[in-house]
Amino acid sequence: MTNRIFTLTDQDGKSSEFAVQEGTHGPGCISISDLYAKTGCFTYDPGFGATGSCKSSISFINGEEGILLHRGYPIDQLAEKSSYLELCYLLLNGELPSETEFAEFDSSIKLHTMVHENIRDFINGFRYDAHPMAMLVGTVGALSSFYHDSLDISNPEHRQTSAHRLIAKLPTIASYCYRHHRGLPFMYPDNNLGYVDNFMQMMFSVPAQDYKHSSTAARALEVMMILHADHEQNASTSTVRLAGSSGANPFASIAAGIASLWGPAHGGANEAVINMLDSIYNSGETIETTIARAKDKNDPFRLMGFGHRVYKNFDPRAKIIAGLCHELLDELGGDQPMFDLALELEQATLADDYFKERRLYPNVDFYSGIILRALNIPMNMFTVMFAMARTVGWISHWLEMHHDPEFRIGRPRQIYIGHAKRDYPG
Ligand code: CMC
Repeated sequence: MTNRIFTLTDQDGKSSEFAVQEGTHGPGCISISDLYAKTGCFTYDPGFGATGSCKSSISFINGEEGILLHRGYPIDQLAEKSSYLELCYLLLNGELPSETEFAEFDSSIKLHTMVHENIRDFINGFRYDAHPMAMLVGTVGALSSFYHDSLDISNPEHRQTSAHRLIAKLPTIASYCYRHHRGLPFMYPDNNLGYVDNFMQMMFSVPAQDYKHSSTAARALEVMMILHADHEQNASTSTVRLAGSSGANPFASIAAGIASLWGPAHGGANEAVINMLDSIYNSGETIETTIARAKDKNDPFRLMGFGHRVYKNFDPRAKIIAGLCHELLDELGGDQPMFDLALELEQATLADDYFKERRLYPNVDFYSGIILRALNIPMNMFTVMFAMARTVGWISHWLEMHHDPEFRIGRPRQIYIGHAKRDYPG
């Protein structure tokens, strides 16, 4: 697999060779595990922009061409032809399921949709105005105190049970975070329903009357979940791997991922985009002043929903979501003026040299809030929706890490720039 070699030569002419490891697609990585032994130096790469942290066969991004593959399948084909639960199976197991495999997987997920009754009490203990992400991160971490019977990380059956539990329980917990916040009774899952329909039922139904949602709304949510299911070594996935690398249990590791997702540079961007569009719409900001602020190096403001570490072209997920916005708003209604404003803002940035030179395009979060709003999901639940969909990606990476023969605790190095050694006074 390896045939390229790089040679590093120091000022005294001492050379060291480093082999390149190639993957199926994408640039090779110079293997530097023995760099310190050969040169006495480490590498320095803030933000890990040039560092491969693991070998993975789950998903692949070609940022130049705007391509995203899950287990080799392009995201647009999965969004069109697959279901979220089938994608979960694919991400976890590497191949699409046969009919029997899917039926078994579906019933295993359904077996685990309920949560321990004390988890309902646990959620009730949060203040009425707690942010749903605060409740989610705490509750998922707390799962490890309820499900001791699947915490032996060296046991493959335990690992699988925990993975299925997480995928099954996240919609229940996410809906409870919302219901607690709204003062609504918690609804039990209904295993006669599919994964997405069940979530919508737990979110929006009330015991006093019948509940029905449109199939268009359910399909839109399903596609949103497919688009958010995995995205290789992003900040939250890398956090899950790093937390898990110490041997932390899967619930604690996923809670760490949820915490990382929360920030506005990552999953919190969908909420920030709507706030930004709202302030253009309602508070006298214009597209021009907003773009000018984003370009001003003295202003920390960034155009939310734009730019990506890897995509230097359209984010393929953003393209699919923009199409979905057209369909959904046509059929269900929703915030059409906000969508029109988003389209206008996108056009203005595409024509602007600052954004062109830096290759900043709309990312998945730019349009996702508009869809979630049309589905009546409140804004403070947006990042929870992202976390619910991404749980399968996180746990797939956590499982893959436990199979990796090169797996060891993650422990980066540093350049120490503090005081030189000195004596304590007196
Ligand atoms: N608005 C204005 N300028 C930007 C933006 C933006 N959204 N994004 C990047 N830039 C500029 C940045 O100031 C820098 O300019 P210069 O070269 O003059 O210093 C240049 O573009 C490169 O930016 P960077 O900060 O080095 O890029 P990064 O790879 O470290 O950051 C990012 C990627 C996504 C954090 C960043 O683009 C950003 O903050 N975007 C807004 C938040 C957002 O939409 N996040 C969602 C990401 S996609 C979903 C997810 O991963 O959760």
